[in-house]
Amino acid sequence: MAKKSKSPGWYCRECGFESITYLGRCPGCNIWSSFIEQPAYDEKTTKSRHQRAFDRDSVLGISTPQRLENISLAIDHPRIRSGFQELDRILGGGLEKGSFGLLAGDPGIGKSTLLLQVADSIVRQGLKVLYISGEESATQIKGRAERLAIEGDLLLLAETNLDSVIRAIEETNPQIVVIDSIQSLSSDLRDSFPGSPNQIRHCAQELMPFAKQAGIVILLVGHINKEGQIAGPRLLEHMVDLVLYFEGDRQNTLRHLRSIKNRFGPTDEVGLFEMGETGLREVSNPSALFLNHLPAAKETSGVAITAIRQGSRVILAELQALTGFTAYPQPKRMFNGLDFNRANQVIAVLERRLGLNLSKQDIYASVVGGLQVDEPASDLALALAITSCVRDLSLPADMIAFGEIGLTGELRPVAWAEQRLKEAQRLGFKRALLPFANGLNPPSGIQCHMIQKLAEAFTICFQRKDTAIKPSCSARAGEVLVSE
Ligand code: TYD
Ligand code: MG
Repeated sequence: MAKKSKSPGWYCRECGFESITYLGRCPGCNIWSSFIEQPAYDEKTTKSRHQRAFDRDSVLGISTPQRLENISLAIDHPRIRSGFQELDRILGGGLEKGSFGLLAGDPGIGKSTLLLQVADSIVRQGLKVLYISGEESATQIKGRAERLAIEGDLLLLAETNLDSVIRAIEETNPQIVVIDSIQSLSSDLRDSFPGSPNQIRHCAQELMPFAKQAGIVILLVGHINKEGQIAGPRLLEHMVDLVLYFEGDRQNTLRHLRSIKNRFGPTDEVGLFEMGETGLREVSNPSALFLNHLPAAKETSGVAITAIRQGSRVILAELQALTGFTAYPQPKRMFNGLDFNRANQVIAVLERRLGLNLSKQDIYASVVGGLQVDEPASDLALALAITSCVRDLSLPADMIAFGEIGLTGELRPVAWAEQRLKEAQRLGFKRALLPFANGLNPPSGIQCHMIQKLAEAFTICFQRKDTAIKPSCSARAGEVLVSE
């Protein structure tokens, strides 16, 4: 008979908080009566499962200490290409052997679609991929695969039991395993519902040796709910090598893939995809996508184009601002895709250093296309978009602007100025406003206005020193003064 060990303690069924004694209220999530006793481990079963993983041929030799000089570099086993350049760039060149990754995102955003397409591409390279779905039946996955024009040697398994999943991995010995989703898996050793933090953590812990010791790439799918609460994936972030977030507005076809953690590559890259009738397509020319609305907006005030850096590339983004008089003492400040504090700081500089009275103006600002812009280099474009709207004067349509604004209204240098100019040139922009402090040798083909103070930008962009504000926009007309 299997020997039972002493109970390892108590845990919260809501958030997984562990304690050696029973607690009435969980210190982790503040929920009452959520503590249940950990089931005593059946040592024989638990050990034999680990043993099976460690007994694999590939495991032998890795679980014993090795001399550093005997360990081969990753170069010896090249990365596995995912079939999407956008994804490979985020991964740092492809999937690293033995990586344990998590793809998180809202339900319905396209995680299963992305991984099915990736699995298909890897199968076409001659590797064995096991796609385990606990959410859909094999027939449903087949239906999706037909829509994506996928056929062939991909191995499918519709299963939710951890033991069966582990057995399938051992029997098929694949190079890649996709588990869709970690919330649907459950283990008999844990007395809680599938998707509970305790189950999620336990299942991930049981699967980890297959990545770490057997060198299998394991990709977990994790759902997050709108509030980001107790959905589980956050618990996993410290256990996995790679955390990717798949984001986007479900009303819109554009999807962003971000890496939040990556032990084998960069974390500041963003991949762009479009969801179409036959699956996901990568966006090859993102700047053009985000400037789609430009022709219509050419004559409109409150629109400024900037160049933002995302990882190893530059994208042109359109910033829009809308201001309007408010009778309320507390004007509204709403920013979409921009850092709230950063945007408020730009507004404070406009008020204090440029004499723009915005205390009676609601200000809304957003980045077109759902892009997230959080680098200070977008300060200048935001200041121009807001001022353009307040003064109802449109900015030159062939101009981009980038630069960080300091608290005295000075323009501070930003990284990657040359690449930003190059991208602007590629998309047909003729002029650029950028910080003098960048000390750049202006390239030919684009007229560069190098400025030291924010006020200079206004002289260049709005040409006339219009001190009046449209009466409809202003609390007290005539209060907007440009100090130069
Ligand atoms: P899915 O991959 O199931 O999302 P998740 O796994 O993140 O829950 O994607 C579901 C949505 O994607 C659904 O609304 C249908 C849409 N979709 C397409 O628009 N085109 C396609 O080719 C596929 C397969 C799905
Ligand atoms: Mg899914």
